[in-house]
Amino acid sequence: MKKHIAWLLGMILVFCLAACTSSPAGNTSTAENVSANSSAGEESSIAEESSATEESSAATESSVEETSSETAAEDRVLVVFFSATGNTEAAAQYIAELTGGDLFELEPVEPYTDADLDWTDSGSRVVYEHENPEEQAVELEATTVDDWDSYSTVYIGYPIWWGQAAWPVNAFIEVNDFTGKTVIPFCTSSSSGLGQSGELLAEMAGTGDWQEGVRFSSNVSEEDVQSWLESLGE
Ligand SMILES: Cc1cc2nc3c(=O)[nH]c(=O)nc-3n(C[C@H](O)[C@H](O)[C@H](O)COP(=O)(O)O)c2cc1C
Repeated sequence: MKKHIAWLLGMILVFCLAACTSSPAGNTSTAENVSANSSAGEESSIAEESSATEESSAATESSVEETSSETAAEDRVLVVFFSATGNTEAAAQYIAELTGGDLFELEPVEPYTDADLDWTDSGSRVVYEHENPEEQAVELEATTVDDWDSYSTVYIGYPIWWGQAAWPVNAFIEVNDFTGKTVIPFCTSSSSGLGQSGELLAEMAGTGDWQEGVRFSSNVSEEDVQSWLESLGE
């Protein structure tokens, strides 16, 4: 009987020892949860990071596009001209073709007829306007250029009338702001040079980096324009 009791007590002791030394099941599962949570947290933070990286990369791409379109815009060339009989228009077209520029024609609301342009007739419109400078404020169909701010170089073309820039260009020069633009005058004439026409227009404008400019003959050719542009480094 004593042997049985001793065996029973021994078994109870062994059982108690075994129970005390084993890891709690709850702790194990908690550790697994932490590990799972940590893994899920990492995944979610990676996902967030990856999405943030994609957004930041998209933002970088978009800013590059904006910058390059701004750069492209800043390089734009505009060729503004008035031409009564087509000679200056031809020069303007050559400049636009050779520089990849846009054309903007200055058109008087009341166009000049051949009779109007007859400087040998003392009663003609040009003679009247020449003798009455206050009449030289010729109204134009348009003086506002779309995307004006996007042009960094502006060529201004006109015929020479009585040794000066034909006055229909004045209405355009007076109302536009040339700040930050390189402005290059060009003219056509029978024999007169550019004279002071460019300087007088620069004074009238009051803004812009005005260059010396050039005079072409009335029958200007593409080669004339090309060699002049080459001399400017265009
Ligand atoms: C009213 C008038 C005045 C002109 N005065 C001059 C002048 O002073 N000197 C000159 O060389 N040519 C003069 N010309 C000729 C023009 O400058 C020349 O024919 C020019 O190429 C015309 O350009 P457009 O065809 O673009 O109008 C004059 C022409 C006109 C109609």
